[in-house]
Amino acid sequence: MRAVVWHGKEDVRVDEVPDPRLVEPNDAIVRITSTAICGSDLHLYGGKVIKMKEGDIVGHEPMGIVEEVGPGAREHLEPGDRVVVPFNISCGRCYFCEQELFSQCETTASHEHGKGASLFGYTHLYGGVPGGQAQYLRVPQAHFGPIKVPEGPPDERFLFLSDVLPTAWQAVVYADVPRGGTVAVYGLGPIGQMSCRIAYHLGAGRVIGIDPVPERRAMAERHGVETIDPDAIEDPASEVLRLTGRGADAVIDAVGMEAEGSKFDSVMQTTKLQMDRTEALRKAMGSVRRGGTLSLSGVYVGLEQLFPLGDLFDKQVQLRMGQANVRRWTDDILPLLTDEDPLGVHDLATHRLPLEQAPEAYEMFQAKRDGAIKVVLAP
Ligand SMILES: NC(=O)c1ccc[n+]([C@@H]2O[C@H](COP(=O)([O-])OP(=O)(O)OC[C@H]3O[C@@H](n4cnc5c(N)ncnc54)[C@H](O)[C@@H]3O)[C@@H](O)[C@H]2O)c1
Ligand SMILES: [Zn+2]
Ligand SMILES: [Zn+2]
Repeated sequence: MRAVVWHGKEDVRVDEVPDPRLVEPNDAIVRITSTAICGSDLHLYGGKVIKMKEGDIVGHEPMGIVEEVGPGAREHLEPGDRVVVPFNISCGRCYFCEQELFSQCETTASHEHGKGASLFGYTHLYGGVPGGQAQYLRVPQAHFGPIKVPEGPPDERFLFLSDVLPTAWQAVVYADVPRGGTVAVYGLGPIGQMSCRIAYHLGAGRVIGIDPVPERRAMAERHGVETIDPDAIEDPASEVLRLTGRGADAVIDAVGMEAEGSKFDSVMQTTKLQMDRTEALRKAMGSVRRGGTLSLSGVYVGLEQLFPLGDLFDKQVQLRMGQANVRRWTDDILPLLTDEDPLGVHDLATHRLPLEQAPEAYEMFQAKRDGAIKVVLAP
């Protein structure tokens, strides 16, 4: 089959690789019909994540049609089912799965590396499981993971159940926005876009989005979000304070470690001091009111030095974070994926390209060229 394969920093290629086959009794094989590129894939692409191996198949936002089902998954799935595959692999019955902390599944966790649940297409720290930017995908724990969706509507209606929608939903729930309250969202990539819309849906009164990219701000504005261009002002956190008085009740960091630094940071980087990937996180911390909540959906890895723990302590900020527990939220989201489209899922994907064009698609998405906000590949 054809698959998107990681060869090194900024080097993904579409290679011919062996077809996957059933290995464990509860595996299924899915023929992929749509598979999205995620901001998290940019961390792999940019070489920021360790324990990638040349030859790894990437991708963790797939959907398609079930082709084969092992005997252990036949109560849940049958060939021909249309399914979306969550990015984390969970068993549904271990200690953490029983608490609906599916991203911490002990059955699939890489105990060798001390990490949480295995992820599709995401480094050997998280199981080294072949990913879903491919024609076919072997789905472990298929008695639990795959989400069955109805026939009829286009893939883009359901595809974002794999990651973007549950991640954004969790970000908003964890942000604990008071009814009618204000939430500031740093980063208006797909996760930030959906966090804004879900915040309104769940009762926020005011949503302020911060992102330097004009078309991303424009998309958010179409959905009722006030926006701030951090490049046009000295300090976006001061602007959030100015707009809200005391700061936002809750702040979501939907940027993560691809954060564009301020001019000051680029000076630091060129002088080879510590590379600061926490620009957005720091601004997010500066934007939250005393006693408010900071919800991190942006991914960080490793140790971040110079973390202003004292400021968080003084402001009595609550901090919540983590990989999305995908299946925890999908039953809440699926009923919203209707023709009325209250979350606007049909206003997110900007590009649909053949799988064969994955190298160009990654390059475009990383550079935020051609208005790329969410790129879907079609195998
Ligand atoms: N927690 C989870 O389970 C989970 C799941 C999916 C994605 N993520 C993470 O969420 C983050 C966002 O994902 P995405 O797909 O939306 O990615 P993305 O790269 O498309 O979005 C990031 C956005 O942040 C903006 N940005 C960069 N620096 C900024 C700054 N200093 N201030 C404000 N905005 C800034 C960029 O312009 C971009 O629009 C990534 O870190 C990704 O790894 C987490
Ligand atoms: Zn993703
Ligand atoms: Zn489990």
